[in-house]
Amino acid sequence: MSTPINLHEVEAAARRRLPRMVYDFIAGGAEDERTVRANEEAFARVRLRPRSLVDVATRNLATTVLGDPVSLPVLLGPTGLVGLVHRGGELALSRAAGAAGTVYCASIAGSRSLEEVARVASGPLWFQMYLWRDRELVRSLTARAAAAGYRTLVLTLDVPVVGRRERDLRNGLTLPPRFSTRNLIDAGLHVRWLREYQAGGRLTYANLRGEAGIESESSNAFALSEYVNRHLANPGATWEWLSWLRELWPGRLAVKGVLTGADARLAVEHGADGVIVSNHGGRQLDGVSPTLDALPEIVAAVGDRAEVLIDGGVRRGTDVLKALALGARACLVARPYWYGLASGGEAGVRHVLELLRDELDRTLALTGVADVAELAGGDLQLVDEGVLRG
Ligand SMILES: Cc1cc2nc3c(=O)[nH]c(=O)nc-3n(C[C@H](O)[C@H](O)[C@H](O)COP(=O)(O)O)c2cc1C
Repeated sequence: MSTPINLHEVEAAARRRLPRMVYDFIAGGAEDERTVRANEEAFARVRLRPRSLVDVATRNLATTVLGDPVSLPVLLGPTGLVGLVHRGGELALSRAAGAAGTVYCASIAGSRSLEEVARVASGPLWFQMYLWRDRELVRSLTARAAAAGYRTLVLTLDVPVVGRRERDLRNGLTLPPRFSTRNLIDAGLHVRWLREYQAGGRLTYANLRGEAGIESESSNAFALSEYVNRHLANPGATWEWLSWLRELWPGRLAVKGVLTGADARLAVEHGADGVIVSNHGGRQLDGVSPTLDALPEIVAAVGDRAEVLIDGGVRRGTDVLKALALGARACLVARPYWYGLASGGEAGVRHVLELLRDELDRTLALTGVADVAELAGGDLQLVDEGVLRG
């Protein structure tokens, strides 16, 4: 098998390697998956307006994101239960991000504990949480994250309840996977995945080990949405929750899952240093705006009071440039690194980041930008914004 030359080929390689049920869990989204598709389509719709005869002989992709230096404006976003596709799980992601000189944002729902992830890290680490119901649990987790050296806490806002992911329902997905006759045949046809998965040991929410009531349940197979609805989601939470967390957490605080200027303003007023424009990769509410469309409104609402980041559908260096030219400080990716991990392990994740770095570098040269810092403020008018408004 030859080395993938772009992220689409990385996905194709992962798709061949994974049982249907696992690939669908990663690729799928809520209901009709309109927003999943729209995220990528939004990037495709925006046109670039290159500048000529600018000295781009040397180019700089490095910047800072919420105070952390990164060698490129692409971060590994938070995702849970990565052990589903690789025995090293989140440890491989932490190492790959460090090697590439970027941030890894570990999820509360990881299959490796936040302390294990921190032990192998060589780059800056962020930690993502949900609006838990049990505040004592939040207190203990934030204290653990601070003690382990996590620099930014990311609070995900868009899961008051879990979105309806119909592929998972149809496939009867449980975590850890419990194999029905059909799933068993599918798993048996993907021997390399099965061996890798079994080598990783039991798949659990490692950060919740020892937490009464949750642990016993998480060691049995459960339907994902049921479990998250019962423990991770908190439909009663309000903005007061963010102020409370602001008091508790000593480092930088970002919120993830913002899609309107009004919510971005509220987030800043309640103490957020960063706003991540996200629709959870289309996995929560189907029918919301693609994130690139929502970005300009949020950048305008926040001004210079917070850094704005974006995720959802970033698959090319040109996508990164478009997001930055519209006011994002950096992009996060999720599915691409799952596919890199599933098809090529830790090296596969590094390859994903190197492909994006190489594409962004070439895009800078071709659009006449020597330094990503020049993109701040959107002054270069490198994208045709009319498409977004129209
Ligand atoms: C398999 C998977 C698991 C995810 N788990 C989490 C999570 O635990 N916490 C979270 O805030 N977002 C989670 N997300 C959402 C991602 O962080 C991100 O918002 C989205 O997937 C970005 O879009 P992309 O996958 O198109 O890059 C998950 C996404 C996927 C694909």
